[in-house]
Formats: sequence, C-alpha cells, structure tokens
Amino acid sequence: MKPQNINLQEVTDYLTLFAREQNLSAEDLKQRLERIYVECEQTGIYWQTTTELNYGAKVAWRNSVNCIGRISWQSLTVRDLRHLTTAVDIFAALVEHIEVATNRGKIRPTISIFAPQTAEEGIRIWNSQLIRYAGYRQPDGRVIGDPDRVELTKICQSMGWKGAGTSFDILPVIIKMPNQPPEMFDLPKEIIMEVPITHPNYPWLADLGLKWHALPVASDWRLEIGGISYPAAPFNGWYMSAEIGARNFGDAHRYNMLPIVAKKMGLNTSSKLSLWKDRALVELNVAVLHSFAECGVKIVDHHTASKQFMQHWKQEAAANRMVPADWGMTIPPISPSTTEVFHQPMENVCLKPNLFFQSAAWHRENDVVQTRVTVGGKITC
Ligand code: ARG
Repeated sequence: MKPQNINLQEVTDYLTLFAREQNLSAEDLKQRLERIYVECEQTGIYWQTTTELNYGAKVAWRNSVNCIGRISWQSLTVRDLRHLTTAVDIFAALVEHIEVATNRGKIRPTISIFAPQTAEEGIRIWNSQLIRYAGYRQPDGRVIGDPDRVELTKICQSMGWKGAGTSFDILPVIIKMPNQPPEMFDLPKEIIMEVPITHPNYPWLADLGLKWHALPVASDWRLEIGGISYPAAPFNGWYMSAEIGARNFGDAHRYNMLPIVAKKMGLNTSSKLSLWKDRALVELNVAVLHSFAECGVKIVDHHTASKQFMQHWKQEAAANRMVPADWGMTIPPISPSTTEVFHQPMENVCLKPNLFFQSAAWHRENDVVQTRVTVGGKITC
C-alpha cells in the first residue's frame, strides 16, 4: 500500500475523538499523531494500539445507522485477531467467536477483527453471516431452505459441499486470504445453538418444523477506524424477534410462512379485508419470542428495543452527541407506529468509525459501492 492511501485527515479525526472520549491529554494526542504520521510515511500504514482498535469498534457500532440496539455499544467484546495469517487459524477463531458469543444463550455482543487491508485485496469472509441456512433452487423454480442464500449455496456446492437438502442446513464458511484461492470449512454442529419454534396457544405451529439459529453474526461488512479498513470483522448482537418472525419467516421471498400459518389459524385467506397476513404475522412473532424464552436464548421484542433506543438517544444527547439513524431501517417491520421510534425524526448521516457494506466478495469489481440500498432490506445491526 502506498503512503498516500491512508487518509491522514481520517487518522487525525479518529485519534482526536479517541483522545477526547478516553481523556487523553493534548500532549499525548500530539505525540501519538506524530508517531503515526512517521509510521505511515515509512510503511504506508500504521498499526493501531489494542485500545484504539477496541474503542474504534465500539464507536463503529454507535455510528451504525441501521441498528436499533445501540444502547449496548459500550459492552461490545472486541477480539483483536489481527495477527492471524491463515484461513485455518481464522476459521478456528470464528468457531471460538460463535462459542463465546452464544454463551449458551446469554448472548454477548462480540466482534472479531482480523488483519487490516494493506494491499488491493484484503481477507474476506464470503458468507454474509457466519450462521445461515442453505437455499436449494429446484427445477420448478421453488426453493428448499432460505431463498436468500441460493447464490452462496451454489458456490459452496461448486466447491464440493453436499448439503443434506433440508430447509435448515447450515452452510459452510468460505474464507479467502489475499492472493489465495477461497477455502471452505464446515462449522461443527455442536457449537450452533438453534431454537425450535413453538407457539404458546397453537400446538400445530410446532408441526411446521420451523427453527432458527440463536446468533446473528454479520460477516461481510468492512470495519473502518481512523483510515484503516478491516474487511473481515464479523460481529454479532442478539436478535430482535421481528427479524425472524416478520422478515425471515414472513417475507414472501424468504420462508413465506404467512399463507400456511393463516390457513392453520382458520383465517379467510381469500379476502384481503380479513387482514390474514397481519394476524398471521403477529402470531409468528409471538411464537419466536415464546420459543427463544423457552430455550433461554436472549432476544428482544420490538417494543423493548424501541424503548431502549430512545433511552440511548437521551444518553447520547447528554454526552453532546447526536444519534445518526436511518429511519426506514430503525423502525420495526411489525406494528411500527406502536413504537416510539416511528414518531422520532432521524438524521441519516455517516460518522466514522463505522461499518460499511461490501458487495459480495465474488463480485469484487462492485466494491466501490459503499452503502447498501435499503429498499426492502432490513438489517438492524
Ligand atoms: N436481520 C438479520 C437476520 O435475520 C440479522 C442482522 C443482524 N441483527 C442483529 N440483531 N444483530 O439474520
């Protein structure tokens, strides 16, 4: 990497924020910046201290405009794994991430940060989440499993993976080190906690055979702190129930469960006026909350999440900070107007450090696109 690739303004901005919020003296800041400028001059990049990295990752979460759960930003566990140089070691670290973050259901928000990008190509995890279900396109066009994962499933199959062909097969993880071919690894089954979906009042719902994994680990975002990019920095929080109950199960282009749930509930699905979709959606969300509670897995409902977000807003205001937020991504996909966030004007501005969308690693030529198109999307963290 050439020295001019590090934007010194970004370096100064972050170190100034770090010094202010971590109570560093003006003299310490000045000395640190001078050392960094020299390091950039000599090597083209600088190595962040573990505390700079740690705090930067937390602030990146605080600045994530899509996330309703940011009240917990200071509690993020940051794993500094910049020293790992092989896909095998990185995979072992991902397994450990899943274990420590799952914590037998008492989920711990965690980020694992791998080596920064120092050349044109950096480390990439091809999966958009570490734990995801395969989607198998059938000859008649239907999909068994998660239709959102058809493309990745095909890639895994082309690399030799043979899925069982059920609706809930965990995909292997693909890691690509710079200038090396991608490598594929199977996650050990026993580390993946899953929740079978049941309903407190509708015993038949269990017969639909639904389940979902406890841990959402986004793994294809680029973490940027002080001008340094970390293209492999998987992170997790815990689920908000609507992500699963409304979107993953409810979306027509995902598991598309509303028609069957409504039929089982005895609703009139031939008339839009019966609001069968809305009523089925509510019961699916009840089921998700009930099931996660039964299994002792941490989850938050959208009313509590909204309340916490508003509390976060107040805390940030008291610290003289605004809360940048994307309204469309922050409001829950179920009963939004019943939550306070719906009525809150929001400003969608990009502050750094932050996490940036990267296009699929097998489409690298599109990487100049830095922001995800949010139409129809719902990524909360
Ligand atoms: N919406 C995504 C999913 O259903 C997860 C995104 C991250 N969510 C979170 N609560 N941290 O899998």
